[in-house]
Amino acid sequence: MEAFCLRWVLLLAWQCCIIPVQGLDFYTAAVYEHPAVLNPSPKDPSTREEALKHMQKNLDIYQEQVHLASKQGVKIIVFPEDGLHGFNFTRASIFPYLEPIPDINVVEWNPCLNPTAYRGTEVLYQLSCMARNGSMYLIANMGERQACELSDPQCPLDGRFQFNTNVVFDSEGNLIAKYQKWNLYFEDAYDKPKTVQHVIFHTPFAGKFGIFTCFDILFYEPAVSLIERYGVTQIIFPTAWVNQLPLLSSVEFHQAFASALGINLLAANQHHPEYKMTGSGIYTPFDFPYYYNMKSSEGKLLVAKVPVITSIRNHSLEQSESQTSSAFLQEQKGEVMQEQTDLLKNSVSHVDGAGEIFHALMMFDNYTFLPLTGVQGNLQVCSNNLCCHVAYKYGNTPNNLYALGAFDGLHTVHGIYYLQVCALVKCAGSEYDTCGQSVVDASDIIDFKLWGNFSTRYIYPEILASEMKIYRADSKGWNNNDFYVTKKGMSAGLVTAALYGKWYEKDSSP
Ligand SMILES: *[C@@H]1O[C@H](CO)[C@@H](O)[C@H](O)[C@H]1NC(C)=O
Ligand SMILES: *[C@@H]1O[C@H](CO)[C@@H](O)[C@H](O)[C@H]1NC(C)=O
Ligand SMILES: *[C@@H]1O[C@H](CO)[C@@H](O)[C@H](O)[C@H]1NC(C)=O
Ligand SMILES: *[C@@H]1O[C@H](CO)[C@@H](O)[C@H](O)[C@H]1NC(C)=O
Ligand SMILES: *[C@@H]1O[C@H](CO)[C@@H](O)[C@H](O)[C@H]1NC(C)=O
Repeated sequence: MEAFCLRWVLLLAWQCCIIPVQGLDFYTAAVYEHPAVLNPSPKDPSTREEALKHMQKNLDIYQEQVHLASKQGVKIIVFPEDGLHGFNFTRASIFPYLEPIPDINVVEWNPCLNPTAYRGTEVLYQLSCMARNGSMYLIANMGERQACELSDPQCPLDGRFQFNTNVVFDSEGNLIAKYQKWNLYFEDAYDKPKTVQHVIFHTPFAGKFGIFTCFDILFYEPAVSLIERYGVTQIIFPTAWVNQLPLLSSVEFHQAFASALGINLLAANQHHPEYKMTGSGIYTPFDFPYYYNMKSSEGKLLVAKVPVITSIRNHSLEQSESQTSSAFLQEQKGEVMQEQTDLLKNSVSHVDGAGEIFHALMMFDNYTFLPLTGVQGNLQVCSNNLCCHVAYKYGNTPNNLYALGAFDGLHTVHGIYYLQVCALVKCAGSEYDTCGQSVVDASDIIDFKLWGNFSTRYIYPEILASEMKIYRADSKGWNNNDFYVTKKGMSAGLVTAALYGKWYEKDSSP
């Protein structure tokens, strides 16, 4: 019963933006957006001593952040991917940075209390003491080495595996979990582990957490699987995310992921604006404080109260939701219909002239576009089996070119995955071929309903306004075979509104 009530409260909050605090437990969490001190020549060999000296600069910053966090009652802190060593190493040049990390399923170990149990674990020792001294759970990303037998056919020729690993310490400094990144992003220095890991650890203040790293978030395994199959509602997410507009800027996509799946996502990014890395957040179904700053070179400790979500809205992505809906949802649907008619009322019944359709590349994918014309309208554009629609109404005299784009196909650049996307984008200029390019500012206020007949149920709705402002949808969900999102009355210009759909089952197709 309690679980049901909680879910009810959460549903209410999601659907109509009431923030219910009664009856929910909260804990304080922190993510640190870290301007990692980098090795200026990462491809050159270094000694263990030099590697430790380099990492100490970053460890000192971590230590400082843990102190600041502990003063604010933080129970769990997350540091970003590659935060201790940086980027661009080779397999050989990263070696002095790596440490052996024991399998916590086999041994119990508190490095702070027992520093000499394993040789070459200076970094683990310091992280463990930080967690213990700050009395908080601490998650950091580091390099791991693991010797292997050359008789093992998967053992690399240099006789060791090298993993991109997250380590988790409890508030006493015990090493309680590690996760080896599954979906490597062109990381030559690292090996892919033999099997995908679904790592879950437990806390006294918020129950269980799942963990994965950066690029993992774009794939079913282990990210969505942890949530859908293992019922995890809180995710720890160290990342070194390179922002890519219009659809995959950190805060934009990470918020959409957390909100679509109804989970808490604690995302800690690197802070290196010169490499387009910024954007960390504590994304919850209620609120999503985030940090995005391309101007400052400083790091940022983001601290927030996080609601404990105890039950997963497992059916959230399923098509059946609107059909099996409660009276409450029916009412919501009624409202949506009302909004829809409002939006469509007086709209010019626009038959799309075939001549207006054009193609342009958006993030390396060939989208089919249709430009918006006039202060209001109703457009449809299709790509393969996906047809996208928008009903829109400007709040001002249109200043800039916008277009509705559709893409249904396999994305093959910087990763292979199948997409179904409907996107209303502000074009970078007045020419059609600028539609789909990166834009950050906008002044046009647009009310819209965006929908499409998706074949996947994994759809991440994104609403991005000028200066990287993220908006929550007024309503979203299934209406027969269409997934829709609506938004009215934004106070900032619209940059992108998208239904970013991922058809995971087709990711492996050629
Ligand atoms: C890493 O490599 C990329 C691409 O090769 C380059 O643009 C960037 O400057 C390098 N970063 C560092 C810290 O060496
Ligand atoms: C423990 O924390 C205190 C202050 O909070 C700090 O002065 C001290 O250096 C820390 N000790 C270790 C071993 O981290
Ligand atoms: C959620 O639903 C999926 C598919 O319907 C099912 O396989 C999975 O076990 C469910 N997960 C939980 C945590 O109930
Ligand atoms: C995009 O697709 C259209 C239609 O298939 C084609 O005519 C056009 O050349 C493609 N554009 C690019 C840049 O590949
Ligand atoms: C989406 O709608 C178009 C146009 O009505 C149709 O041709 C297409 O088959 C539909 N796709 C799906 C998956 O139903």
